[in-house]
Amino acid sequence: MIDVEQPLSLLGGLTPARFMRGHWHKTPLLVRQAAPAIEPPVSRAELFALATRDDVESRLVVRDGRQWSMRPGPLPRRALPPLSKPNWTLLVQGLDLHVDAAHALLSRFCFVPAARLDDLMLSYAGDGGGVGPHIDSYDVFLLQISGRRRWRYGRCARPLLRNDVPLKMLRRFEPTESHLLDPGDMLYLPPGWAHEGTAVGADCMTASIGFRAPTQAELARVLLERLADNGGDGPSARYRDAAQAATARPGAVPAALRHFAQHALARAIAEPGAVDRALGEWLTEPKPQVWFDADRSVALRAGAGLVLDRRTRMAYDEQQIFINGESFRAAGRDATLMQRLADARALTAPEVRAFGAGTRGLIAEWMSAGWLHTAKGDDHHA
Ligand code: SIN
Ligand code: CO
Repeated sequence: MIDVEQPLSLLGGLTPARFMRGHWHKTPLLVRQAAPAIEPPVSRAELFALATRDDVESRLVVRDGRQWSMRPGPLPRRALPPLSKPNWTLLVQGLDLHVDAAHALLSRFCFVPAARLDDLMLSYAGDGGGVGPHIDSYDVFLLQISGRRRWRYGRCARPLLRNDVPLKMLRRFEPTESHLLDPGDMLYLPPGWAHEGTAVGADCMTASIGFRAPTQAELARVLLERLADNGGDGPSARYRDAAQAATARPGAVPAALRHFAQHALARAIAEPGAVDRALGEWLTEPKPQVWFDADRSVALRAGAGLVLDRRTRMAYDEQQIFINGESFRAAGRDATLMQRLADARALTAPEVRAFGAGTRGLIAEWMSAGWLHTAKGDDHHA
């Protein structure tokens, strides 16, 4: 796991603690050789093959002068322009779900809570390719993998969007910074900064490490849906109005029904820990395109460590453990071990041996669900 006081070349020699205090969500940071000698997590051919799949989110963006077109995936190989053609880019979202090396690259940013981490997107562009000037609502690390890309960026007081293009694109873009990034260089941008990345030369591959940040409305919607059952759904929980008098104003909402509605909402969130549970379950819900390969025959091997599947989402709070949309109460040593599993995404064999019998049963179930695997190399973190 990361020591937040240890300087990282990934952050240009800043410690994660200093980066988070000084830059995160505040000001951009350009890091030359953040990841020297970076290897592409997939080859160009593998990336193009992923874009043909319907369980992989991809899109193709092509510019023709001031005109732009966007085609959502799946994208057969023949849909992509010849490599030597300029002004196009292929974007493949959620690469970390499909490729271990991409997941490993994303894991280098685990000094940010996993609840905030979204995915790793990889773009491949021909000379001049890009998605135009725009503003994102989320923080992003833009890591140059191969080829070169020029990033221009600046603050934007009044972000007006073009309405003649199928992409979110700024009508006016007045960048104050311009930098050419080589393989291994990285740019961090906080939300709300106008930016445009343009490939300089062919074979330009850029990884975007993206984050998620719910709005209040989104959270209220998903949490209330989960909490609704706490409100009581049986016949005895239905609104009753034996005391309703005859009304001369049938349009008026009865005061008792308004009170009943307030009470229904209050009751839904009243149970201690209920909101935290709904939040943890929602945060760890697998992405829609994720399917785990269940295998009833896999068993917990004595003397072996454990590693989370790259697609597994795991989190915890003081009382509960969340994994892939489910919640469990845990206490004592088992809770400490589960929390370590969520933080490190792996446990050593001695740590696994220390689990109580009940929890070992749970772990075995998660293994057969495909959420956890035996670590390669005993007694070592994968
Ligand atoms: C890209 O990699 O071309 C797009 C990344 C971005 O600007 O958000
Ligand atoms: Co962007």
